[in-house]
Amino acid sequence: MGLKIKNKEIEILIPENKIKARLKSLANDIKREMKGNEEIIAIGILKGSFIFFADLVRELGNNIKIDFVVVSSYFDKMESSQNIVFKKDIETDIEGKNVLLIDDIIDTGRTLKALVEYFKKKNPKNLKTCVLLDKKERREVNYDADFVGFEIPDKFVVGYGLDWGEEGRTLKDIYFVK
Ligand code: IMP
Ligand code: MG
Repeated sequence: MGLKIKNKEIEILIPENKIKARLKSLANDIKREMKGNEEIIAIGILKGSFIFFADLVRELGNNIKIDFVVVSSYFDKMESSQNIVFKKDIETDIEGKNVLLIDDIIDTGRTLKALVEYFKKKNPKNLKTCVLLDKKERREVNYDADFVGFEIPDKFVVGYGLDWGEEGRTLKDIYFVK
């Protein structure tokens, strides 16, 4: 008997040990490109990124500050950040800072693209984006994250923070819905 969510069977796509291993190499790439000895402001996009965020920032070492945004997932046909609706903005002044924006997954690309446009207006010294998962086939806007954990096929995934209607976030592995 397999695991089920909302009465649909789910199957492991990426097991916990592979996620953990990839986190270390991803963090090394980020440190090499961003750090020197300078502070990084890590901004997590809630809620989906909360577990990935917590694991990744601990691999990045000290001299990290954290903040979070909550945005609504609604977008109309325009590709402008004017359409992004914040339920919570950051509380940190990022002007002149090294900023790493972290999300669970990039799908159409609208969320990350809009947030990058919005944060660039605050004049950070350096702004990079990192996602655990990338569904490249689904992209609707011209944006790719700077650091990507895994490219995955066009399947709906849950676990390791990602949800399906708020279910499945605390699963330790990443599953796809069959
Ligand atoms: P985008 O703006 O289409 O790139 O949307 C990205 C957001 O959609 C992510 O932050 C997730 O919250 C959500 N999302 C996209 N695909 C999935 C999935 O397969 N499972 C769970 N959430 C997803
Ligand atoms: Mg999300």
